[in-house]
Amino acid sequence: MSLQAVVRSRTNGITPRCETSKKCCLGFCLLLISWTLRATVAQEEIVYTPFSEAWPVLEALSPIVPPGLRNESPQKLESVWPSWVKAHDVEIRERLGKGDEDTIVNFLLFGTSFTNQPRLAAAQLRRLSTDSTEVPEEEAPPQYRALIHSRVRDLVHGMAAPGNNERLLFARRVAERAGIRFSGAAPNERAARYLYQNYLRVVREQDRYQQLLAAAHSLGDPTEEFAERSKLYKDRGLSLDTSLQPDFALEAALLTMRDHGTLPPGSVRRVGIIGPGLDFTDKQEGYDFYPTQTVQPFAVMDSLLRLGLTKPEEVEVVSLDLSPRVVGHIERARRAALHGHAYTIQLPGDSARGWKPELVAYWKGFGDQIGNPVRPIDVPPSLQGTASRAVSVRPEFVKRMRTLDVNIILQRKEMPEDAKFDLLIATNVFVYYDTFEQSLALDNIQSMLRIGGFLLTNNLLLELPSSKMRSVDYVSVEYSPRPADGDRIVWYRHEP
Ligand SMILES: C[S@@+](CC[C@H](N)C(=O)[O-])C[C@H]1O[C@@H](n2cnc3c(N)ncnc32)[C@H](O)[C@@H]1O
Repeated sequence: MSLQAVVRSRTNGITPRCETSKKCCLGFCLLLISWTLRATVAQEEIVYTPFSEAWPVLEALSPIVPPGLRNESPQKLESVWPSWVKAHDVEIRERLGKGDEDTIVNFLLFGTSFTNQPRLAAAQLRRLSTDSTEVPEEEAPPQYRALIHSRVRDLVHGMAAPGNNERLLFARRVAERAGIRFSGAAPNERAARYLYQNYLRVVREQDRYQQLLAAAHSLGDPTEEFAERSKLYKDRGLSLDTSLQPDFALEAALLTMRDHGTLPPGSVRRVGIIGPGLDFTDKQEGYDFYPTQTVQPFAVMDSLLRLGLTKPEEVEVVSLDLSPRVVGHIERARRAALHGHAYTIQLPGDSARGWKPELVAYWKGFGDQIGNPVRPIDVPPSLQGTASRAVSVRPEFVKRMRTLDVNIILQRKEMPEDAKFDLLIATNVFVYYDTFEQSLALDNIQSMLRIGGFLLTNNLLLELPSSKMRSVDYVSVEYSPRPADGDRIVWYRHEP
């Protein structure tokens, strides 16, 4: 049976719902003896999804569960679940390594701190991706090949002598993990090959994603297309990259929720950001002329205050992420804030994308609730014409940040009802997972959200009958007039 057969119905046209057995057979209920496996992560209250909670997902999605769980009796599933979940946690976390290599490719293409060569604009990359179907796999189109090789040479040079450039140090560490060794500034053919091979891999992957998107579009059903897009990167490395645009879309969603009376003023206190990411050099023409930073936890706090949805003295923001780099970064910022240090966010504006006026206005006002404008780091000469601003977030708000090392697909924090989140936010996270994994994640999210609380996401999630998470509405937001340059933010409510 295909997933299509399992998942057919549409309710309010927002999100797919599963029609299979609403019944949970009594016999099986006897099997649902809850067990809780303590996760081997730092925080004691983080646990793996108990089998009793995973069972309805396993049952409803039996045709698409991973091979290790397929065609097994409920008894067998219950006995293998603890070891499966642990092993899969390791597999998911290992995907961070490949995501790091993707990030280095973005750095190679867009970075300005290690080279004087022009950046490869997104338009050129799209061209590369299109052309790559017509040339031998090893060959980049000639018009860009020389540029790539020059950038590879300069990046290898930078990695050999990184100084205290945090991105070059990171790129070097990633290459060393792949067995590349650096000795002095000698030409390093292996490092150059490694970078070039990764670049070709990313171009080929881009090509495949374009084909998948075209296939999804050809379905002729916007909801099906959104559903397909929502798991586009399920086989890709886990990337940490982030940008300002999803935060603008989130503010639009929160505004709609407030104006529709879905989210009353002052009703939000505890917010969880699942996968806040790190701004390293993002794939949409990102920049590398300022220190790596996280933006989303601050952006959401800023929006909630601007919209009157929370109070400055009450708001708490917890970041839930499986990346030690993300968790470590936010923890360091929090510790610095405890010693009175502010957190500065650099905000490069529109380059050549033609941002919509609403996005420009959001960019201009960003941070006015939580910080003060400060002089931004100078834009390098190669990026002349790119406006930038910066905001220094006051320590009193940075101190409100907490972190949890959580793999949202397989883990949750056990919390008493009165400590649960009012709001959980996850943009560009579920897209890295398949429908089965997303459904497990939705269950973990439900367990941490208070009844009546909301999940906001830019991906479409399957609503199984056993789930109490139900889509309510969505907003579509355009960032620029470019095709497909926008997001749809859906909100799901935890029903009683
Ligand atoms: C591409 S970034 C998105 C950043 C930001 N939310 C945005 O939209 O710009 C994905 C983020 O999700 C995190 N992430 C990916 N899989 C996760 C999982 N299973 N559990 C928790 N965090 C995850 C990554 O570490 C990273 O911080």
